[in-house]
Amino acid sequence: MVEFWELVLPLLLGLLILQYLKQLWSSRNYPPGPFQLPIIGGIWWMAAGFSHDILTKLAKQYGNIYTFWLGPQPVVILSGYQAVKEGIIDHPDDFNGRPVSAYIATELKRTVGVLFASGEIWKQHRRFGVVTMRKMGVGRKIMENQIEVEAKHLVEAFACTKGQPYNPLLAITNAVSNVICAVAFGYRYSAEDEEFKGKLEAMEMMGKYATSIVALVYEIFPWMMHRLPGPHQKVFHLLKREISFAVGEIERHREHQNKHEPQDIIDFYLLQLEKSKDDPSSTYNDDNMSYFLTELFIAGTETTATSLQWALLFMVAYPEVQEKVCREMEEVLGSSESVSYQDQKNLPFTNAVIHEILRARYVLFLAIPRECVNDVKICGFHIPKGTFVVTDLRSVLLDPTRWETPEEFNPHHFLDKEGNFVAREEFLPFGAGARVCLGEQLAKMELFLFFTHLLRTFKFQLPEGVKELRKEPVLGFSLHPHPYKICAIPRNVK
Ligand code: HEM
Repeated sequence: MVEFWELVLPLLLGLLILQYLKQLWSSRNYPPGPFQLPIIGGIWWMAAGFSHDILTKLAKQYGNIYTFWLGPQPVVILSGYQAVKEGIIDHPDDFNGRPVSAYIATELKRTVGVLFASGEIWKQHRRFGVVTMRKMGVGRKIMENQIEVEAKHLVEAFACTKGQPYNPLLAITNAVSNVICAVAFGYRYSAEDEEFKGKLEAMEMMGKYATSIVALVYEIFPWMMHRLPGPHQKVFHLLKREISFAVGEIERHREHQNKHEPQDIIDFYLLQLEKSKDDPSSTYNDDNMSYFLTELFIAGTETTATSLQWALLFMVAYPEVQEKVCREMEEVLGSSESVSYQDQKNLPFTNAVIHEILRARYVLFLAIPRECVNDVKICGFHIPKGTFVVTDLRSVLLDPTRWETPEEFNPHHFLDKEGNFVAREEFLPFGAGARVCLGEQLAKMELFLFFTHLLRTFKFQLPEGVKELRKEPVLGFSLHPHPYKICAIPRNVK
């Protein structure tokens, strides 16, 4: 009698070969890319670990638009400014989808919020986010006031170090995440608060998971990973804890709702819920609100905190730039106690330095994957609906055909000959197109206000005996610096 496995094994093998041949056949329609193996696709390219050089090598070999097969899933990668422009900038509506990650599809079984949503849910929440951020930022200055409160706490944290070597990571993360807490929930936390510490720890775990090999394996074998123990289970537990926290906050706001003077995002969302309660196409509901709030926290904390860490590191590494920023502030602001976001216009060099930090130390080097929602032709290739598209932001921010000295820290990238600030179209650390960062304005405001408050109060320098700080980034969810210590010496200017 024929054994069970003697029948099933050849059948499985046959199916696998058939699937592989189908995949090879369909790949002829996509831009070129590394050879794909059965099951793992092009992942063999990363056998020696993932690094930036891999993307540069791939672009050199296959051109500015190429396909990388993530298992059976084609991912088209746009490299350099021209390809990104011809793709997500010139076709914003064709590239406004977000691929449903297998992790989210398997664990949550639905898409919600804004960051990972597509279609009508994304459209409505994106619109709500843009309008609300504008209302809170412009004119009413809710955001600027919250940032100023946090900037003062941050200055105090540095003052307590009394010029001794200090790793600013925790103080910066506290300040930045407190801005989001204040903007979203209406209050700030003390650094010692256990709930707050738990939130930051959750954020760190989620960030680490997002770029781990386990996450990659989950995307290819969700049915298997869903059943196995591992960090993905812990991350899901933490995510659920954050969502329950947001649900609690929504209830608290409902009980004390101030309809006439909305102060935070939950207040604005509750008003929106009321406005759209008779609209059958509305996607505004408590479920989406809790995810929307949690996503703002996830998207807005590590990114901004990392940029600010780079800013201080670069000021220590380039003391002549630090002194020039301080001189400019002294000349323009004099002995005035406060700095406002409006002052940015009169501080072109300071503004250029902040932009150059965001360029030279791009925080999200691969943006966040998009999904093509229509068939579209770009750079001479037909990209079918449903294809995943990734923007290699690093290749844009360091594009040698666009920047004069791409590998160097050079604030003059953003200055003309007369020293006026010049905006550059290839400056895309916040992504581009329909899904450009929702928090771009908030992040820019935070970076400017934190940076200027700190540099007006302290001179930052290396601890005694330390010759230099490491400037190469550590690869993670965001590109962050190696842990460092610096000394904040009071300037006594004001
Ligand atoms: C220096 C700080 C920041 C950087 C470099 C940054 C960068 C980015 C990038 C590259 C994207 C992906 C865009 C794309 O899909 O191509 C993004 C999306 C997003 N960011 Fe930021 N971000 C920062 C701060 C913030 C802050 C402070 C918030 C919130 C308060 C925020 C909220 C979001 C959201 C909600 C999205 C998703 C938008 C959508 O899918 O429509 N970000 N960000």
